[in-house]
Amino acid sequence: MSLNMPLMMLVLYASIVAVLWFGGLQSWNGSLPVGQLIAIINYITQLLMSILMLSNMLTFFSSAKVSADRENEVFSTISEITDVDSAKKDSIHNGRIEFDNVSFSYGSTDDNLVLDGINFTAEPGETVAIRGATGAGKSTLVSLIPRLYEVSSGSITIDGSDTRKIALEDLRRRRGYVMQQSILFSSTIRDNIRYGRPEATDEEVEQAADFDCAALLIQPTILIMDDSTSALDVATESRIRQMLKKRLRSSTIF
Ligand SMILES: Nc1ncnc2c1ncn2[C@@H]1O[C@H](COP(=O)(O)OP(=O)(O)OP(=O)(O)O)[C@@H](O)[C@H]1O
Ligand SMILES: [Mg+2]
Repeated sequence: MSLNMPLMMLVLYASIVAVLWFGGLQSWNGSLPVGQLIAIINYITQLLMSILMLSNMLTFFSSAKVSADRENEVFSTISEITDVDSAKKDSIHNGRIEFDNVSFSYGSTDDNLVLDGINFTAEPGETVAIRGATGAGKSTLVSLIPRLYEVSSGSITIDGSDTRKIALEDLRRRRGYVMQQSILFSSTIRDNIRYGRPEATDEEVEQAADFDCAALLIQPTILIMDDSTSALDVATESRIRQMLKKRLRSSTIF
């Protein structure tokens, strides 16, 4: 595009200058009426503008192709995290979570450990707060629970089953995850709330919307809220906390 536009403009203006030069001389001699000269300039402008549009279309096509290729690449990516053959279904009941000497690093080597030897147990009905400086690894820690990443060493168990042996669908259906950066899909608010449970009735969706916290449509056993109330004012935050206490009495909340 950066070559195309200036080039086309150069051609356009050069043609107008040429027409003015040669046509102007003829007009001077009296062999070309001024009206015709202006008409010729108009025709040339229209013609070249159309060609300019056409060449713009070509650049649009090539940029669309690049985007489509990238999208296909994303869609055809196969997740490295998959169910094992003996994956257990329906093994999450209470939401007792145990971290046993969990270490994690984003790279393949263990040089840059984000988490190192984490041990703790979260009981059902408990609210666990994880605090730390920016980049300390809070988001990383909670993202290990639904197995968005695989632990490098150690293990995480939910109700006694290693998360690596729990069916992924189960693992992810039984927990709500309000991410640090939430995404709204370009659709209706209703569809966005219903995203976690497509079969929910209109009534349930409206009820969830009423409770200030659409994550709750799925009635999670485990609820992870990653900095999700930091953008709210104190009053709204405390309203949400009270609502959580009332509605998710037996859930494990991070
Ligand atoms: N996808 C990723 N790939 C590689 N490194 C990452 C990735 N995500 C996070 N990190 C690194 O891991 C470390 C922990 O990041 P994390 O996002 O868990 O911190 P945090 O405690 O949630 O921070 P914040 O308070 O800003 O939310 C940081 O050093 C970060 O740069
Ligand atoms: Mg974070």
